[in-house]
Amino acid sequence: FDLTAFAHGLPKAELHLHLEGTLEPELKFALAARNGIELPEKTVAEVRATYDFTDLTSFLAVYYPAMRVLQTAEDFHDLAWAYLLKAKEQGVVHAEMFFDPQAHTSRGVPFENVITGYRRAAVRAQDELGISAELILCFLRDFSAEYAMATLMEALPYKAWILGVGLDSDERDNPPAKFAAVFARAKAEGFFLTMHCDIDQVGSIENIRAVLEEIGVDRIDHGTNIVEDPALVALAKERGLGFTTCPVSNSFVTEQMKADEIVGLLREGVRVMVNSDDPAYFGAYVGDNYVALAQQAGLTPTELVQLAVNSFEAAWLTPARRAAYV
Ligand code: HPA
Ligand code: ZN
Repeated sequence: FDLTAFAHGLPKAELHLHLEGTLEPELKFALAARNGIELPEKTVAEVRATYDFTDLTSFLAVYYPAMRVLQTAEDFHDLAWAYLLKAKEQGVVHAEMFFDPQAHTSRGVPFENVITGYRRAAVRAQDELGISAELILCFLRDFSAEYAMATLMEALPYKAWILGVGLDSDERDNPPAKFAAVFARAKAEGFFLTMHCDIDQVGSIENIRAVLEEIGVDRIDHGTNIVEDPALVALAKERGLGFTTCPVSNSFVTEQMKADEIVGLLREGVRVMVNSDDPAYFGAYVGDNYVALAQQAGLTPTELVQLAVNSFEAAWLTPARRAAYV
């Protein structure tokens, strides 16, 4: 049995992928050259040597500064296109891709550059690769609720290009309630809602309860420490709520893949699936994440198929489009 070929060949949806987390060092150098930016590192190996993460904070400290090479719509297009080519090789037929506009607008890059570049790559993916690609706008939770609301307003003219909104970055002291009004407005505008509930963060189980009971999200990103509360697990299962888990990312930011939690939820019938999060930084695209989890937990081929089925069940597809996949 060729696990890698099987896992990569499975048609799947990727639902937890930060476009800014797909910036490979080679493209970073190319964009720096094009934009006349001097980088502190001179080689790909020197860039990779900075990928020495022990937790979410140390990851974010490398992730944000790297983005300064992204400036024009063409840059954002090239970034997303490179990811989509990679995704195609790993069996992705549908992608709902996060982007962090405030990581760019906060350093003076117009929102328009970001959205038009990403959108052009998404349209091209449908035409040239047969991948349906959608965008999810993430607010950075360590910025203010006012800035998040202003970003939502800035996005409204592009509503047709944005499927949903999410919440990422540093969860500590930035609970879901801080963004309740922003998410209520986004829901009223017709966006799907998701939020990161990063594992091993203080108060994480309370945040999971809040996103379920107060925000009313359509999905949870990470969130596997819901296993601490069986009543919440039962609620999530009953609602068919999707959990976008990221095993290789977990092994970097928590030093554990959290395979027991992910596979435990899978075997209980909770709608978990596997994703890559920030594949350029964690060295594993989505098919590689299926392989890593399967090796760690001894998944059967049937369980790998169930993960892929869950990816479509948890995707924000219309019933007609979902029926084409499962
Ligand atoms: N958690 C929080 N913020 C992020 C992540 C993540 O997994 N990836 C990129 N930004
Ligand atoms: Zn993430």
